[in-house]
Order: sequence, then structure tokens, then C-alpha cells
Amino acid sequence: MYKIVKKKSLNPTVTLMEIDAPLIAKKAQPGQFIILRVDEDGERIPLTVAGYDREKGTVRIIFQIVGATTEKLNHLNEGDCLHDFVGPLGVPTHTDGYKKVCVVGGGVGCAIALPIAEKLHELGVEVHSIDGSHGRQGVVTTPLEEMIKAGENYDLVITIGPLIMMKFVVKTTKPYNIPTTVSMNPIMIDGTGMCGGCRLTVGGETKFACVDGPDFDGFQVDFDEAMKRGAMYKEFERKAYSEACNLFKKEVE
Ligand code: FAD
Ligand code: FES
Ligand code: MG
Repeated sequence: MYKIVKKKSLNPTVTLMEIDAPLIAKKAQPGQFIILRVDEDGERIPLTVAGYDREKGTVRIIFQIVGATTEKLNHLNEGDCLHDFVGPLGVPTHTDGYKKVCVVGGGVGCAIALPIAEKLHELGVEVHSIDGSHGRQGVVTTPLEEMIKAGENYDLVITIGPLIMMKFVVKTTKPYNIPTTVSMNPIMIDGTGMCGGCRLTVGGETKFACVDGPDFDGFQVDFDEAMKRGAMYKEFERKAYSEACNLFKKEVE
């Protein structure tokens, strides 16, 4: 059992939690993720490691409440325990050998891009960041293209957020041939490469995001296929969400 040592609501739909998980805190690197189960009968959901404190032995997660499991997770409080918390999974984000990097985040992706930006900064890289709602309002690709045209010679762009946003970031950087890393978040189940749930097409080859990713070369990813697969279970998810909401409503009554 993994104790929730801190819970903070960042806005009405996004919550931060710190979980007591010393073995994961010891090993986690930016870009990796965990898979958790809220309770014994719960489904497994992946969440990015949004931070860690190696001394305290805690791992930070930041999640958006979008469906049944994230709703259930958000009903837990400090002192409650998660049934499973497995990780760190996935390949850490490659951060060595760069001089100037632009980190582009969207939605909850901004929060989970933070440890990557921090690591790059620690390594002496000049880091620029763009997100879709802080400061200037609009789509992230507008300032990105402006900065590229203004002569910011990035040797890498890293983008984390909704698939559609990452698809357009890649469309923006490709004409300038700026290497672009995307963080893919397909449906995951076991997180160990055995179930095949997280497969993607990258450069015409099948890859498993849980073991080969979640970071991939954005120029090679088939985003349209990934978006289609991500929408496959919409009907089931809607039903599960309304059942979870009804359950909590009954508890309140
Ligand atoms: P549902 O109604 O079941 O699903 C809502 C949407 O979430 C679905 O349409 C689907 O696209 C996605 N989803 C559902 N189940 C899964 C699953 N098992 N695996 C992947 N996607 C799923 N979200 C965050 O808010 N913060 C994060 O840090 C974060 N990191 C992620 C890292 C990785 C590597 C992956 C693969 C996903 C990450 N996600 C993150 C997405 C998060 O896993 C889903 O939002 C969550 O699983 C939704 O579950 P639900 O039951 O509440 O909603
Ligand atoms: Fe099962 Fe990747 S989540 S193979
Ligand atoms: Mg679900």
C-alpha cells in the first residue's frame, strides 16, 4: 500500500499528490511514468512522474480528472493509500548534449514537462518554454514559429500535451528540420510490453510506448492512427465515468 502524504488541488480539474514510494523515488528520472491502481478492483492507469524527493522517498503525480479512475483517485485524501504504484516505467527523456531547447507544453502536459525543463537547466542548457494558457493566450505553435523565425536556433524541441497539439508542433518544426521529441500517451494496460495495448506506428514500425517510449521522434510518429486508437473505448469510458459519479453522489446523500 502506498500512502498519499500530500494532496493539493491545482484547479477544479487538476490535482497534485505526493505518494510515499521510496524505491521509485530513488530511481525515477524525468520522462518516466508509474502505473497505479486506486483499489483492488481498480483499472491500471499510467501517470507521469511529475517530480520526486529522493530523501523523503516521495513521488509527485499531477493528474487531470477526466474519467472514472481519475475521479476515484481524486476522492482519496492525505493519509489514504493506493493499492498499487508501480515504476519507474519507460525510458527517461534524453537530455544530454543540447545547447538550446524549447519545451512546449499543453494542458496537464505543462506540469509534467517541468522536471524535464529543470534537468536540462541543471545541465547548463538554455531552456525556453511555451504553454497554451500562461501569459499570452493562443495556440502554442504561433509563438514557437515566431521564435524560430526570429533566429532562435534550437537544437531540440520537446513537446508534451494533447496528441493534436503535438501533431501541430511537429508540423511547425519539420520545415525547419528541428529535431522534435514527443511524449506519447496511448492507452496502456500492463506497462511491461506484454499486452500490446500501447502500440504505435513510428517510422513505419510498430513500437510499444511503455517500453520503447514514451518519448519518440515526432517526425516519425503516425499521430492520426494514435488518435483513432485513443478514441476506441470512449463509449465504455463514458459509462464508467457516469457510474463512478453516481456512486459518489450516493455516498454524499
Ligand atoms: P477514462 O474515461 O477511462 O479515459 C479518458 C481518456 O484517458 C481516454 O480517452 C484515454 O485517452 C485515456 N486513458 C484511459 N485509460 C488509459 C490508460 N490505461 N492508459 C492511457 N490512457 C488512458 N494524465 C494526467 O492527467 N497526468 C499525467 O501525468 C499523465 N501521464 C501519462 C503518462 C503516460 C505514459 C500515459 C500513457 C498517459 C498519461 N496520462 C496522464 C493520461 C492518463 O493515464 C489518463 O487520463 C487516465 O488513464 C484516464 O483514466 P480515467 O479512467 O479517469 O478516464
Ligand atoms: Fe501493455 Fe505497453 S502497456 S504493451
Ligand atoms: Mg478509465
